[in-house]
Parts: sequence; C-alpha cells; structure tokens
Amino acid sequence: MAERNPPFRCIISRSSLFCMLAIATFLFLFSWLSVLRSTSRPHFVDHSSLPNSKLFAVVEDGNSQPRNQDNIQPSIPKMSVSVDYEEEGPQVKELMKYNQNKVVLKVFMYDLSPEFHFGLLNWKPEGGSVWPDIKTKIPDYPGGLNLQHSIEYWLTLDLLSSTFPDSKGGRSAVRVHNSSEADVIFVPFFSSVSYNRYSRLQPHEKKNRNQLLQEKLVKFLTAQEEWKRSGGHDHIIMAHHPNSLLDARMMLWPAMFILADFGRYPPNIANVEKDVIAPYKHIIKTFVNDSSGFDDRQTLLYFQGAIYRKDGGFVRQELFYLLKDEKDVHFAFGSVSGDGINIASKGMHSSKFCLNIAGDTPSSNRLFDAIASHCVPVIISDEIELPYEDVLDYSEFCVFVRTSDAVQKNFLIKLIRSIKKEEWTQKWKRLKEIEKFFEFQYPSQEDDAVQMIWQAVARKVPSVRLKLHKSKRFSRHKGSRRKFNAITVPRNFG
Ligand SMILES: *[C@@H]1O[C@H](CO)[C@@H](O)[C@H](O)[C@H]1NC(C)=O
Ligand SMILES: *[C@@H]1O[C@H](CO)[C@@H](O)[C@H](O)[C@H]1NC(C)=O
Repeated sequence: MAERNPPFRCIISRSSLFCMLAIATFLFLFSWLSVLRSTSRPHFVDHSSLPNSKLFAVVEDGNSQPRNQDNIQPSIPKMSVSVDYEEEGPQVKELMKYNQNKVVLKVFMYDLSPEFHFGLLNWKPEGGSVWPDIKTKIPDYPGGLNLQHSIEYWLTLDLLSSTFPDSKGGRSAVRVHNSSEADVIFVPFFSSVSYNRYSRLQPHEKKNRNQLLQEKLVKFLTAQEEWKRSGGHDHIIMAHHPNSLLDARMMLWPAMFILADFGRYPPNIANVEKDVIAPYKHIIKTFVNDSSGFDDRQTLLYFQGAIYRKDGGFVRQELFYLLKDEKDVHFAFGSVSGDGINIASKGMHSSKFCLNIAGDTPSSNRLFDAIASHCVPVIISDEIELPYEDVLDYSEFCVFVRTSDAVQKNFLIKLIRSIKKEEWTQKWKRLKEIEKFFEFQYPSQEDDAVQMIWQAVARKVPSVRLKLHKSKRFSRHKGSRRKFNAITVPRNFG
C-alpha cells in the first residue's frame, strides 16, 4: 500500500478517462521535448567548436529566452561563454593585434670591446665609450657584397637607438641595462664582417684576427654571469655569413643564432626550432613606384649568378643547358658587383620571373634581390629555410620547384609559361605588399627587416623560457635530497 505512484492512483480514481488523457498528453510532451533536445544538440556541438560562426550565435540568441525550462541542458553554460566570445570577437582580435605590436622584446646588450663590432669598421673609440655616438655620426659598414650579411650592423644600431627619447613607434625591441629584466641577451659581435675582412692570415701570424676574436668571445661569454645562469640559451648571436663564427659556433651552440641558412651547420648546433633565419640585404635597387605589369616585363625568366663547383653548380649547369635556347630567358653566369648591379637591376626589373637556384649554400641574396625587384621568385632549393616563414606564406608570391623536377626536360619552362597574367599579377601585387619585411635601414621602420627579425626572436622566447625553467627543476639541491619546501604553495591559496 505504500507504493502510491501516479498511474496507480489514476486507475482507482473515478474519472479514469481524464487521467488517461493526462498521461497521453504527458507522454506526448515528453517525447516532443526529447526530439527538440536531440535535434538541438548538434548545434551546441557545432557551435562550441566553431566559435566564429555568426549563424549559430543568432540561433542561440533567438532560442535562449523562450527555452528557459531547458536549463538542465549541460552545454548551456558553455554556449553562453561562446556567445560572449562571439560578440567580443572583433575587439579581442583588435586587442591582440594591438598587443602584438606593443609587446616589446627587452634586450640586454653586452658592452663588448669595440674590437668586436664598430672597431671592425675602423671606428676609433673616443672618451672611453664602447659605442659610437650615433646621434652625431654613424660609422659606415663596408659596401659591395659585404652588405648582404650586414644584419649585425642594423640590429645593433637599432638597439643603440632604442632608448632615444624621440624613438619612433612600431618598435619591437628595446635595450635594457639590467640583464635580470631582459628577455634575451644580445652579443654584438659583427661576425660576418670579421670573416669577410679579417680571416686572411697576415705574415708571421699563426691565427688570423677573425679566429682570435672568436676565441676571445668564447672566453668572455662563458665567464659572464648571464651566460652561466642560462647556460647561454637566452643569448642571441649573429652569424649571417655562412662561414662566420666557424670556430666559436661549436662552443656557443646553446645560444640562439641568427643565420642565413643551416647549410654549413650540423643539426645539433643550429636548427629551425632554436634559431632564426634572417634575410640578406638585397644588392639590387628597390623598384620604387613600380607600375610595370605583366606585359611590360619583356624577359620571362631571369638568372644571373656564379657557377659553383659543388652540388649546386651541377643544377645550375643542367638548367643552363635546358633553358639556353629559350628566346625570352636570360641566363648568365658571373656574380654581380660594381656596374653589374645597375645592369642586373635593369634586368630583374624587366623580368616576370627570377630564378633562385641553390648554390653551395641553400640560400642566396638573389631571392631578396628578386623581391625588391617584384620579379616573382622561382625557388629551386630543396633545403632552403626562409625568414619568418611561420608568419609569412611564401607560396603567395613565389613559385617553388623541386630540384628533381626542375632538371627534367621542359618541366620548368612549361610550368612557368603556364602561369598566366592573372596569377602572375596577384603574386606581383603581394610582392609589393611584403617587400618592406626585407628592407634593412637606419632608422628602422615599423615591420621592416630589423623589426621582423626582433619579432621572430620574440616568438622564440617562450621556448627559451621553457628550457631555462626545466633546467632549474633540480638546481636547488645537490643529490637526491627530498625537500618539500622546494615546491612552494601560495600561502593565500583558499
Ligand atoms: C635588476 O633587476 C632585478 C630584477 O628586477 C632586481 O632585483 C635588481 O635589483 C636589479 N638590479 C639593479 C642594479 O637595478
Ligand atoms: C614615387 O612616387 C612618389 C609619389 O608619386 C614621388 O613623390 C616619388 O618621387 C616617386 N619616386 C621615384 C623614385 O620615382
């Protein structure tokens, strides 16, 4: 008798007809609700996985008021978060963009002796200062082909000027004088000019000046507090010329290198996870106010470069034999310098496509010459690593061809002739948009090569921090001492 469930009570009641009607209505309503719920569930799932979908936000807004009896639905709280996010979407994006531009890398720069930097440019220190007074006069970097590896000069100048009161916006790095407050530690060694100018042995010398400087640098760095506390992981060392830092690189490998490519590095010394690829400074003149469209550029394909005897030389010769009889192809050997720069500038400015073939290293300044000329680069270099490729899609303005394909008869020329005016013009327009990312200058401008390199360094900082923090895990105690206070729990927790 204790079980007095509703149906039983109904049967013994007098108006059983009414009771059955009530049950039927209840069952109908119940099944209708389940149908509603099961059809709306996929929407919830879709919505939470696609927070940007405006459609679902509208649907949910419309439904949220009448369907308040559905508040047991577990995905409702999640959903309202998504709706909020959707509404704030554009602002959040704006904020992120703002922050991206405003988060400034804090860089501590060693006051290295001038023999490592401006001294190599024949600057003489005055009044005991390590650095030239760049407000009055900026020492010149040697010209010609030296300039292609001059990142060391532009980055250092940018840091030196970063604390000037009239320092412009759009800055991605600022010099700090307290290394404990820095994100990274910058080593201002002009290693490329040191290699280019001082790696010849003088009479009666056992070691050239470039080698001696590297030895001195390793000794200096490994003795610094900053190096010891990080093991060098947060240090930035520039070695843009493939042969620069040849001796010291083996000792300084924990640092983040700024390089042209990894061609002459063992992968444990330098790799794309740890290091930053920087562009060459282009040698060809920038094509200012370029309005020369597809039809104005008479040469279809342009190549000017040296023949190397190593691997890359083979591909260059193969391509030469494949292309030499094509009328609208310019293919010439010889490196560009002196008046050749003017001739090559004219050549690249009047060509639709410019070839970049791996030489004895995977990279070369030709790619950056092509970009400055708005001549669509055709890249034949399987091992090439490109600057800022994590934020820049090169396929929008370049054509990539595998070496094994390029050396097949007619493959390359067919491919290039198949790219018609419309597609070419898109790439050309994109080239004009992105060329500033490859422009080195002082003072540096927003999003030019200098700032883009700093930003690339900044994107590596979290992984540097991860390494540092991991290395600290057991640094407090020697041996396997068990000590719980090594793990500190915040006192105000709960
Ligand atoms: C450098 O910064 C650290 C951390 O902020 C601080 O503890 C230290 O006192 C600073 N050193 C100097 C000389 O200001
Ligand atoms: C490019 O165009 C601008 C604006 O029309 C003009 O001021 C400038 O002198 C031009 N530069 C060259 C090199 O033609």
